[in-house]
Amino acid sequence: MIPQTTETTPKEVVSAALFVEPELIKRIIAAELPKNLQDAALYAVSGGGKRVRPALTLLCCEAVGGSWDEAMAAAVAVEYIHCFSLVHDDLPCIDDDNLRRGKATLHIHTNEAMAILAGDLLLPLAMQQISNGTLEPTLEAQLCHTLSKATVEMVRGQVYDTLGGLPEHLNDLEGLESIHRNKTGSLIHGACKMGALCGNATDDQLQAIDTFGHCIGLMFQIVDDLIDLHSPAHHVGKATGKDAAAGKTTYPGVLGVEKSKAAIEKLKKQAKTALKTLGKTGKTLQTFNVWMACRTR
Ligand code: IPE
Ligand code: IPE
Ligand code: MG
Ligand code: MG
Ligand code: MG
Repeated sequence: MIPQTTETTPKEVVSAALFVEPELIKRIIAAELPKNLQDAALYAVSGGGKRVRPALTLLCCEAVGGSWDEAMAAAVAVEYIHCFSLVHDDLPCIDDDNLRRGKATLHIHTNEAMAILAGDLLLPLAMQQISNGTLEPTLEAQLCHTLSKATVEMVRGQVYDTLGGLPEHLNDLEGLESIHRNKTGSLIHGACKMGALCGNATDDQLQAIDTFGHCIGLMFQIVDDLIDLHSPAHHVGKATGKDAAAGKTTYPGVLGVEKSKAAIEKLKKQAKTALKTLGKTGKTLQTFNVWMACRTR
């Protein structure tokens, strides 16, 4: 079993998550959507998510000397993309899940058409947050490029995960890593990079955040694979024990549990080393790194 006792969400992460929470709701209401679509979008984004990605955006901005306010639009944008990816991931034609964040998945709560359309909505709504003319034009372009690239990679990874199509030259382990880096790692990396961009990072800071983001992005999905194997659904708030039965390519499935844990440790160390460049201001991200590696939900 993954030890349950080591996991407490760091207080800095809780604060960052709470800071972004009302904005996620406010900005959907501001879009003046039809009531049924607004309800579906609010359902998809509210309640129960750990807010790992927007918290990373705020904390990476802070780690390079910026403020949380400067990174808010990017933080909301990345969480909208994440929520859209979850709604579509849960559809009957993809992972066919009924439980998400401790409640019914959106297609169960409403219906499949609304779940598809609410997902469709969250994607451009995300891009609007960072392209509405309030940010400096160069930053706006960099954020749009970073988020759209990460989203393309997420979709690419979902295709590899669900339908195959990995490049043939990759061996099993390389293929596994590619699935995980694309479907999950890219958006987490993008969340970190957007934060650094919002904080006007120097080249050295950007490099440190880039390596950190790549490491914890891949690590996040390896841990998710272990959670599917070991954690009860009532603890996680989503169905678990499904990956093997669904024939998913996972780290524990390909490498076994011990080697998966070793891979997590290696990525944690690499992330820690990368953060050293940031000095004192990287401390919160160091805490985040440790939490990411031992989370059980
Ligand atoms: C779940 O992401 C989907 C994966 C990419 C593994 P999270 O574990 O961040 O889900 P929430 O947002 O906290 O519900
Ligand atoms: C999902 O991976 C990655 C996404 C892009 C949503 P999973 O299918 O393993 O995520 P969970 O376990 O359903 O949250
Ligand atoms: Mg999936
Ligand atoms: Mg899934
Ligand atoms: Mg999973």
